[in-house]
Formats: sequence, C-alpha cells, structure tokens
Amino acid sequence: MKITVIGAGRVGSSVALNCTIRELGDICLLDIVEGLPQGEAMDINHQLAERGIDCTIRGSNNYEDMKESDFVVIVAGVGRKPGMTRMDLLKTNAEIVKGVCNKIKNYAQNSKVIVVTNPLDPLTYLVIKSLGGQKTKIMGMGGMLDLSRFKEHISTLTGMSRESIQAMVISEHGENMLPLVRFSSISGIPLTEFITTQQSEDLINKTKKIAAEVISLKGATVYAPGNAVSTMIECIVKNKRAILPVSALLEGEYGCNDICIGVPCVLGSEGIEKIIELKLDENELKVFNLGVQSVKNAIENLSL
Ligand code: 2OP
Repeated sequence: MKITVIGAGRVGSSVALNCTIRELGDICLLDIVEGLPQGEAMDINHQLAERGIDCTIRGSNNYEDMKESDFVVIVAGVGRKPGMTRMDLLKTNAEIVKGVCNKIKNYAQNSKVIVVTNPLDPLTYLVIKSLGGQKTKIMGMGGMLDLSRFKEHISTLTGMSRESIQAMVISEHGENMLPLVRFSSISGIPLTEFITTQQSEDLINKTKKIAAEVISLKGATVYAPGNAVSTMIECIVKNKRAILPVSALLEGEYGCNDICIGVPCVLGSEGIEKIIELKLDENELKVFNLGVQSVKNAIENLSL
C-alpha cells in the first residue's frame, strides 16, 4: 500500500507514524515547507528501523510523488488556536484544500481520500465535490477522534477497562457532536446501567469540550488524530468491515441530502460499504439536526 499524507505538521507526522507502526504501507509525507517532511521522515524511519518495521516514510515537497497512492490523507491547513471553533477555519482551509484537490486530480485520482482538515464535515463535502463525487472512497475523520475521547471519559467515570468499552459518537465534528450514551456499552451491558442521567450529561459535555482544553494546554491535538486516521485505514486495508463513525455523504439517510456529517459506517476494502441508520430519539435527533444545519450553513458559504 502507498499512503500519502499531505501536511507534515504534528498531526500529519502522527498519522505517518501510526500507519507505519501498524505496518499498513509505505508513506509519502508531503509538505510545501522545505525540509520539514524530510526531517520528520528521517526521525520516524529511525524509530521504525530500531523496531524492525520495514514500512518506510519518504519526505517530499513535490506533489508528483503522490502518484499511485492507494490513500491520500489531507491534513493540510491551519489548526485551531486557543479560543477558536473549528468553523472559524472555514475560509482559509477551504482554499488550501481546493488546491490540494487539484493535485490529487492530477496525480492520484483513483486513491481513497481521508479528510482531516477542519472544519471537517464541510471540507469533506468540498473534497467529494471537487474530486467528482466518489462518495464511497472519500470520507472525513472526525467521529473517530470524538469517540476516542468519549471512551476515555467512560473508562475514567466507571473505572472499567478501556478495552471493554464500545461506544458511538455521530453528527458534526464540532459544536454539535453527539456522543450516544444510549448506543454505548461496557462488554455488551448498556452504559446506562452504570451511570446516572446527570453523569451521562456530564460525559457528553466533557467529550464536546476536551479538544479545546488540549489545544489551550499544548497548542494542538496530535496523537489521538494520528491514531484515529490509522484505525480507519487499517479497517479498509484489512477489509475488516468494522462499524466506525465517519463523515460521509448522505443521500437520503437520516432524512438528509447532499451533506457530509458523522454517521456510523461499515468500512471495508471498498471504503464506505454501508451507512448504518440509527433510530435516534427526540433529544438525539435535535442535536443531530443542529449539526446538519451548522454543516449546511458552512457548505453554503463555500464557493464550489
Ligand atoms: C480535534 O478535535 C482539533 O478537530 C481537532 O482534535
């Protein structure tokens, strides 16, 4: 497998590291900043060499090097600064991502594409439209990141092993994310049997706010996004058909049309093989629809 990661900052490098440690393929780490991808590649290759992992990383400033990629991961763009929402990045990052799409069209038209740049859902939509609507091959990574935080909070609250937690987070990767307590369990036992309604509300709020806290403390989120992207790629490469939250193009599902938002998807060798439609209750639906409205407003502001 060849995986190109566009953007060699902290998140892009974390994606490269996580994918190689899982031995998913060779990486082309691309950035317009000269020296940065090469330096990151050297550093990661040194770690891999010592561990005896034969996947390699090559740093490059030349988009042509993404030729024949099986996957392209778009991380390019500016990150959230303390006090900013993900939506505040829309205009700047939309321009950057449009430029990246032109390069993908030239060099890696047949690759699967995973979008990481924020605001995640509108930019995933932009990439699908720019690359010609291959909706099963193009997806956004947002829910997986929210899920990792939700799982961590569930484990801390209940004192149960992280390994035994199954959970789901859908909707916008942003202010209207929807951690689904009702669809989460600990070793198959409904989470609701372990926690009170008040604790459930606290869990949801913490999950929504924790990225901003990390950013205010260390400037960026790095390790969890790198891991989340590599989990998605692993599912596809190994045709695992696991159900993961993914920003996908909806065409009728959840009563929505022509919008990308986080929903549970079956990921296998074809990419998004199925979108799972959950029966949301009234409160869940209210948040989901706020997410839909927020993403729709952003999409309207994109000049496609
Ligand atoms: C995150 O949730 C900033 O969207 C990024 O970590």
